Amino acid sequence: MAGNRAVVYVKPGEVEVSDISYPDLVLRDGPGVNPLNVGRKCNHGVILKVVTTNICGSDQHMVRGRTTAPSGLVLGHEITGEVIEVGSDVEFIKKGDLVSVPFNIACGRCRSCKERNTHVCENVNPDRAGSAYGYVDMGGWVGGQSEYVMVPYADFQLLKFPDKDRAMEKILDLTMLSDIFPTGYHGAVSAGVTTGSTVYIAGAGPVGLAAAHSAQLLGASRVIVGDLIEERLAQARSFGCETVNLREHANLGEQIDQLLGAPEVDCAVDCVGFEAHGHGAGSGEEAPAAVLNSIMDVTRAGGRLGIPGLYVTGDPGAADDDAKHGTLKIRLGLGWAKAHTFVTGQTPVMRYHRELMNSILSGRAQIAKAVNATLISLDEAPSGYAEFDNGASKKFVIDPHGLVRS
Ligand SMILES: NC(=O)c1ccc[n+]([C@@H]2O[C@H](COP(=O)([O-])OP(=O)(O)OC[C@H]3O[C@@H](n4cnc5c(N)ncnc54)[C@H](O)[C@@H]3O)[C@@H](O)[C@H]2O)c1
Ligand SMILES: [Zn+2]
Ligand SMILES: [Zn+2]
Repeated sequence: MAGNRAVVYVKPGEVEVSDISYPDLVLRDGPGVNPLNVGRKCNHGVILKVVTTNICGSDQHMVRGRTTAPSGLVLGHEITGEVIEVGSDVEFIKKGDLVSVPFNIACGRCRSCKERNTHVCENVNPDRAGSAYGYVDMGGWVGGQSEYVMVPYADFQLLKFPDKDRAMEKILDLTMLSDIFPTGYHGAVSAGVTTGSTVYIAGAGPVGLAAAHSAQLLGASRVIVGDLIEERLAQARSFGCETVNLREHANLGEQIDQLLGAPEVDCAVDCVGFEAHGHGAGSGEEAPAAVLNSIMDVTRAGGRLGIPGLYVTGDPGAADDDAKHGTLKIRLGLGWAKAHTFVTGQTPVMRYHRELMNSILSGRAQIAKAVNATLISLDEAPSGYAEFDNGASKKFVIDPHGLVRS
C-alpha cells in the first residue's frame, strides 16, 4: 500500500511534514477525531490524490496556539485533487475526475444541507453544526495538506472540472474554489455589494483580497482595502483597489472621507476576525472587536456587514478573560441605531463554487493573480507557514506530487 505524508500541527509556532496512514473509506481514530466519529463508514466517499492544497489564515489561528487544536492534528481544508478510488455508494463521481472539495463537510441529507446551508450541516460534527477537514472541534475529518485524503459524501460535495487539461492550465485559480474565492465572494454578497457600490474591505490577507476582487466582479464602483501591512496593501493596489494603512491612520472614517468625499461606504466586509489589531497608536496590540466596531462606524445606515473573518468561542491566547470565551466589546448599540445587518459564519461554499469556476475558466476572474498564488512543495510547507505568518503577501499553494510544477 502507498504511504502518505502530511503537514501536521506540533505545537504553537511549529508544523512538520510527517508520515501518516494512507486513507481508506472509514474515519479512524487519531488526534482531534471526535470519539463519536471514530469508525464512521464512508462508502459514500472517495480517495483523492491531492493536486493542490492551500495554506489559510484559518490554519494560522491554530498554529499560533489560539485554539485548542491538539498536537498531531493533520492540517488542511483547501483541497483540489484527482479521484483515485470511489466508495461503493458513489454513483456519479468517477475515478480520474479532477475535483474541487468545498472546505465545509456536508452530508446533503440534513435540513441545513437541503436549505443550501452546507456550512452548518447537522450530521458531520457531533459537537455542533458545521465541519471542515483538518480543523479543531470540527469532528476530526483528516486534513488534506497531504499526498492523499479521503472525502466523504462525494456525489453531493465535489465540483468536477469539465476539462482536465484546461483545468490544469488554470489550476492556481481553480485551487481557490475550495475556500477563499467563495469566502471572499460570500463576504461581498452578504454585504450587499452590487453595481456602483462603494465598499470597504478590512484585511488584505488572501480572504480580503478575494473579497476585493469579488466586489469588483459584482460591479462595485470603489473598493477600499485596509490593513496594517504595506506589502499586502500594495498587492491590493496591484489590481485596482484603493488602500488605507491603519498603522499610520487611526481614524478609518477620515481616510474614507478623503477618498470618497464622505466618511461612509455602502458595504463593508470583515476579512480579519478575532486576531484583529487596533489602529494607529494601538496597532501594536490586539483589539479583537476593532474591525467589527470600525465597520459599523463607516457603513451607511441600513447597510450590511459581511463577516467571514473568524470569531471563536474559546481563545486560550486572548489578552483578557472575556475574550478567552469569545466575548468581545462590540458596540452593538451603534449597529442597532444604523439598522445594520450582520452576516457571520463559515461560507456555504457550494452556493458559489460552480459559477466562480465558470468565471475563472472564461477568464473573467483573475483570483490567482489577485491573491498572489505561490506554489511550494510539501516539504516547503513549514517555511510557507512561517512566511505567511510574518505577513508575506502570498497565498501558498502546496503541490504535494509535483504535478503542477512539472
Ligand atoms: N468564514 C469562513 O468560512 C472563512 C474562510 C476562510 C477564512 N476565514 C477567516 O478569514 C480571516 C482572514 O483570512 P486570511 O487567510 O486572509 O488571513 P490573514 O491572517 O492572512 O489576513 C488577515 C489580515 O488582517 C490584517 N489586520 C489585522 N488587524 C486589522 C485591522 N484592524 N484592520 C484591517 N486589517 C487588519 C492582518 O494584518 C492580516 O493581513 C481569518 O480569520 C480566517 O480564519 C473565514
Ligand atoms: Zn481556508
Ligand atoms: Zn447535512
